[in-house]
Amino acid sequence: MRMIDIIDDKRNKKELSKEEIEYFVDGYTDGTIPDYQTSALLMSIYFNGMSDSEQTNLAMQMLDSGDKLDLSNISGIKVDKHSTGGVGDKTSIPLAPMIAALGIPIPMISGRGLGHTGGTLDKLEAIPGFNVELSEEEFKNQVKDINLAIVGATGNIAPADKKIYALRDVTDTVDSIPLIASSIMSKKIASGTNALVLDVKTGSGAFMKEESEAEKLANALVSIGKIVGMDCMAVISDMNQPLGNKIGNSLEIEESIDILKGKGPEDITELVYTLGSQMVVLAGKAENLAEAREKLESVVKNGKALESFKEMIIAQGGNPDIIDNPLLMGKAKYEVELPSKESGFISKMNANEIGIASMLLGGGRQSKGDKLDYTVGINLNKKIGDPVNKGESILTIYSNSKDIDDVMNLLYNNIEITSEPGSVKLIHEIIK
Ligand code: URA
Repeated sequence: MRMIDIIDDKRNKKELSKEEIEYFVDGYTDGTIPDYQTSALLMSIYFNGMSDSEQTNLAMQMLDSGDKLDLSNISGIKVDKHSTGGVGDKTSIPLAPMIAALGIPIPMISGRGLGHTGGTLDKLEAIPGFNVELSEEEFKNQVKDINLAIVGATGNIAPADKKIYALRDVTDTVDSIPLIASSIMSKKIASGTNALVLDVKTGSGAFMKEESEAEKLANALVSIGKIVGMDCMAVISDMNQPLGNKIGNSLEIEESIDILKGKGPEDITELVYTLGSQMVVLAGKAENLAEAREKLESVVKNGKALESFKEMIIAQGGNPDIIDNPLLMGKAKYEVELPSKESGFISKMNANEIGIASMLLGGGRQSKGDKLDYTVGINLNKKIGDPVNKGESILTIYSNSKDIDDVMNLLYNNIEITSEPGSVKLIHEIIK
């Protein structure tokens, strides 16, 4: 077999065989197929797409490039949740302890921020001492003991994806449905979970800007999961404005604690309960969504969910005192308001650009290896649909530099105020 023939097939819209996909994934992972040929194939896939069986074969081959976690000694149905990435999306942080507090094991393997989007691991590392790099043994033992651990992928989970993903990042081939679907599912299948709820984002701050594309991605993810016997479903949720009010690593931990105390903003709280209810049903702990939601609400009310979060912080070496005193995560030097230039209603908040503003403040990486500033970020004082008066603060910027004119201009240019209130629909669709 020759890589050039595989590129030629895909360039000419032919379906790649299982053997061809195997040849390319194995060859690229072991270094015998070079970056330039893989780039050409990725770009052909980007333009010509893949059939259901091609994308499933790609996911399986990337899965087989590394280890699979064996969680069979942890009893019960293990559930996980995965989001395709957004701005202000701290859902996993309050949701995982709520699920664990109901006695459902949740072995969560999460990622870091990517471009304008934040990452669960970066946010958790804002907690002093919190360690996201557990060994496989430590990870399994912790899930067994307290039902919950949130970690990064261990070294040998889907190494093919790690290599291919890094190449996609620099060849502008990230936002391809078969490439995203196979990338996510290879890692999720390797993590050993039995059931999975996928939160597929759509809107200005999502990889899939159009709902029809998000729908295709959700179907691709769910169909790969079902083929391997995973109990899998997807929620398509809105990313036309940031979720919740806080964007930035320690700020998002603070908001997660508010959610766990039942005092979080409405949109993110609703999303947490929507995704959580699906997880509780998949885990077999409730007959229907209404019962599942009641159970989740009860562990928030009786403090068990917050207790579970505290247990995880302690188990992973973090300082649990941040729960009562978030300032232990540090505080940015400057707090700057963004006053509205006119009166009216907020009609648009471009989530993508607001995510970039937070990244420019130091909350995200502009290039690989950048060190994060956990204390910076943005607090939205207004959201889409809210009235605003001239001079009133739309948002507060937390910065360690006084020189933030570019950030302020970027924010002004991406927030629209009109005479009519805009509106957003949080949950777009459920795909099973
Ligand atoms: N997250 C992933 O893990 N992979 C992608 O391709 C996109 C988002």
